[in-house]
This record gives sequence, C-alpha cells and structure tokens, in this order.
Amino acid sequence: AGYEHHMLKEIHEQPVSLRNAMGGRLDLRSGRVTLGGLSRLGRELASFRRVLITGCGTAWHSGLIGEYLFEELARVPTEVEYASELRYRNPIVEGGTLAIVISQSGETADTLAALREVRMKGATVFGVVNMVGSTIARETDAGVYLHAGPEIGVASTKAFTAQVAVLAMIATDMGRRRHLSPERTQEILEALETIPEKVGQALQVESQVQALAGRLVDRDNWLYLGRGVNYPVALEGALKLKEVSYIHAEGMPAAEMKHGPIALIDEGMPVVVVAPRDSTYDKVLANIEEVRGRGGRVIAVATAADPDLERLADEVISVPATLPILSPLLTTVPLQLLAYHAAVLRGQNVDKPRNLAKSVTVE
Ligand code: M6R
Repeated sequence: AGYEHHMLKEIHEQPVSLRNAMGGRLDLRSGRVTLGGLSRLGRELASFRRVLITGCGTAWHSGLIGEYLFEELARVPTEVEYASELRYRNPIVEGGTLAIVISQSGETADTLAALREVRMKGATVFGVVNMVGSTIARETDAGVYLHAGPEIGVASTKAFTAQVAVLAMIATDMGRRRHLSPERTQEILEALETIPEKVGQALQVESQVQALAGRLVDRDNWLYLGRGVNYPVALEGALKLKEVSYIHAEGMPAAEMKHGPIALIDEGMPVVVVAPRDSTYDKVLANIEEVRGRGGRVIAVATAADPDLERLADEVISVPATLPILSPLLTTVPLQLLAYHAAVLRGQNVDKPRNLAKSVTVE
C-alpha cells in the first residue's frame, strides 16, 4: 500500500483495524455491547468472581490494561500473569474464574500451555485472538476475534490496540450486567465509537516524532514512565523501542523510578513520560520535575493542549483527549511511531528484527 515497511502500514491502519474490531459490536441505541463470543457465556458473565488474564509480550501488556478496565468498569478482582509463569506455578483456580487468554497469532506456545493448565483446573477460558481458526481460538470455551487483519511486522501494533478495545468492550458488558449505570455505559460506548477517528488524529504527530527520533537516536538508554492505566503503555513503548531499534529501554510505573532506576538518569537521557490529564496527572508532573532535576530529557505524551507540560517537558507530543480509562488507545500511537522511526534511522530491519519470530512456538 505504498508504505516502506509493514510495521508503518500497520500503525497507520489502526483507525480501520479499530473500526473493524468494534464494528457492529457497539450498540449505542440499546446501550449494549454485542459480542457473539460473550453471549455464549450468557448469564455466567454476571457471576464470575475473578478474572485471570494471561498472554506474552505485547499481549501481556494489553492484559495489564485489561486489569484496570475490569476492576474499574466491572468491579471484579483481576490478575494478570505472564503465560510462561502461570503455567509453571500450579495456579489456584477457584470456581467462578474467567480466564482471558490474549494472543495475536493464537499459536504462542507458552500461552497455549497456560490455557490448557487453567482449563484443566476448571476455569472458563475465553480467547481474545486475531488469527481465525488458530489453536488458541479452537481450544477456548468461547472468545472474540480482533478482526484487526493480518499483522505481518514482528512488532505488534494494530493487534495491541485492537486487544485493548476488545477488552474494554468485554469489561463494559460485564460492568453493565453488574453495577454500571446506563449513563456510564453509554458514555463509555460513545467514547469507544470515537476512538478510531481520534487515533487518526493521533497519527498526525508523525513528522514531529520522526524529527524527535532524529535528535535522540544516538542515545543508547531510554526510560518510559506512566501511571495507572498508562503504566502498561510505558512498558509497551519500551518494548517496541528495544525490539525494533535495539536501543535499551525500560518501562516502569513513574513512581517506581525513585526506588532505584533514577540512578540511571544522566545529562540528556531520554525519558518518555505518558502524562494524560487523569487523576494521577499532578503526580506525573512531580515525576517530570525529578527527571529534569537530574538532567534527563523529558518527552511527554499529553492529551490535547497542555501549557503545564509545555513548560516542564523538553518536548510535548499531543494526542486527542478521551475518557482516562481509554487513553492507552491514543497514548500508544506516538510511542509506536517513535520506535519505528528510531529503528529506521538506525538502519535496522524493522519488520524482521534480529533473533525474533512473529510467532513464538517454542517454550
Ligand atoms: O501472537 P502473540 O500475541 O501470542 O505473541 C505474543 C508475543 O510474542 C508478542 O506480542 C511479542 O511480544 C511482540 N513481538 C511484541 O511486539
């Protein structure tokens, strides 16, 4: 389609892939989510006592965002576990556990093994999968396809945002059956409906991000910070950067920095801070001051115009505002572009990074 790499094409496809992931599934008139896979669970959805989410890599990151979504919207205790750890730790699966297994390929060996383990122990297993007919999709009790289209680049981009959108829809539906008011449900559905268009607007930061990558690409160590639902976005941004550009990057909750990693910050070290205007915003500003005080170079991802951040950060990348709980769908976009352009500038094989395969079928 005229793009230089699959990764770039897939980043730019997100307005469409998100529309496809949510198309026909958000019913604003009745204030409901209509997901075929969910209706198979029917009434059970209102009675699960616990959600256990598992996956690997980027899918694990979307699962972490799912934890915030399920706890806030459905008020159901939620845990997220690396599939590779879950399978070996003899997990306790009580009755009433909904296990959500996330995988783009549907073939990841560790994820498949975790699925089999929790299923054997009695969990209801629900798949959030992109590849139709894949092994994970076939072995779950019910599930939802992402409909994000084939993802060819090894770095997962459009599958990640589709996973988050699907988890948001499931959490909203579960919430509606429990305690969410019709007004709040409607507010979330309306916000989800506008996400594809806003992702299109977020993509307009590309030339700014490309120029930024050009200025910072010679730095070998980066930090990514976020709080709350944007903490997993920081992890995902760091994973994207290291995976395609081979720059060392670490993501973490912004407040954890002062418990050790702050020692890494020296003059000019790039520190990407995801800082949308939500309940943790003031605390994030304080973290930015801490970074600046040690000479770090702050790249802030903001929602809409933000004079406070303009004053504090070295560079501000703005994405449109949305409900705070859905902000990862937008704040992720500039971080994907940053990783892509850093990799191109470093002359790396963006779509096939060294030592990696699209689907990890070894344990
Ligand atoms: O196909 P899956 O979603 O199960 O793959 C899981 C991870 O291997 C995958 O997300 C990996 O971390 C990506 N390459 C990250 O961009």
